[in-house]
Amino acid sequence: MLPEKTFEGQLAIVTGGGSGIGLAVASEISRLGGRVVLAGRKPERLADAVAALTAAGGRAMAQPTDVRQPEQVDALVEAALAWGGSVDMLVNSAAGNFLVDADQLSVNGWLAVVNTVLNGTFFCSRAVGRQMIASGRGGRIVSIVASYAWTGGPHTVHSASAKAGVVAMTRTLAAEWARHGVRVNAVCPGPTDTEGARPLWQDPLARERLLASIPVGRFAKPEEIAQATTYLLSPYADYVNGEVLVIDGGEWLGKGLS
Ligand code: HXC
Repeated sequence: MLPEKTFEGQLAIVTGGGSGIGLAVASEISRLGGRVVLAGRKPERLADAVAALTAAGGRAMAQPTDVRQPEQVDALVEAALAWGGSVDMLVNSAAGNFLVDADQLSVNGWLAVVNTVLNGTFFCSRAVGRQMIASGRGGRIVSIVASYAWTGGPHTVHSASAKAGVVAMTRTLAAEWARHGVRVNAVCPGPTDTEGARPLWQDPLARERLLASIPVGRFAKPEEIAQATTYLLSPYADYVNGEVLVIDGGEWLGKGLS
């Protein structure tokens, strides 16, 4: 377990921080002493999350942001700097997803997911990375991906394609920015029990099938994904760069004939 004051004096931006995995990561950073700026599209949800973190003794602020809009992303980084003086960590957790047959996916549906996951991750990484480089302090970036980025994922062609791009982006930025003291990694959760993801397996048969495909036999808890993410953000991972840490109970393995 990371020491309690691991992130004291540091500031993190967490996109998609108002709910699900993003909120779990924000809570864990906050518990470990870091300030957190929560970015997301829904102001009420962000306000509730800030209230929860603050009630637990943390320091958090909300910045409503659509990561698909580069100007809003720039405003997010400016707001974070105005509040905390530096941005030491970025967690790209904003995502969009729905199940659809690829031949039925509309152009707008494709763009909604690809713009959020791939473009949004780049816009945020670029804006924060620029600041980390210019400040001379360096920093750490972690993006949330999914294993269908490399296995393929029927009914998620938009998300699988975008997450594959984020994996390539992670490795590219890791190689490019290490000399500036910026480490870039990814966490790859398996099916995680969050409100946003649950509709993907609301059908009882789909749920049973999915559970049967996870060797550990259950969905991930958001806190488990948060702990993996804070490990990568922490000094324990100072020599880990360009890695994708899979936390999926072995789900993407074991696809043999039996
Ligand atoms: C088919 C759909 C659709 C659906 C939206 N669209 N939902 N098409 N089936 N269920 C289409 C719309 O018809 C529209 O196209 C286009 O997508 C844009 O829809 P909007 O609702 O206007 O877009 P927007 O408000 O930007 O919403 C983005 C979104 C939404 C991606 C569609 O679902 C979203 O914001 N979700 C955020 C939360 C989320 O999805 N979290 C899940 C993360 S969990 P047309 O052609 O009609 O104009 C996760 C787990 C992965 O990713 C599991 C890994 C194991």
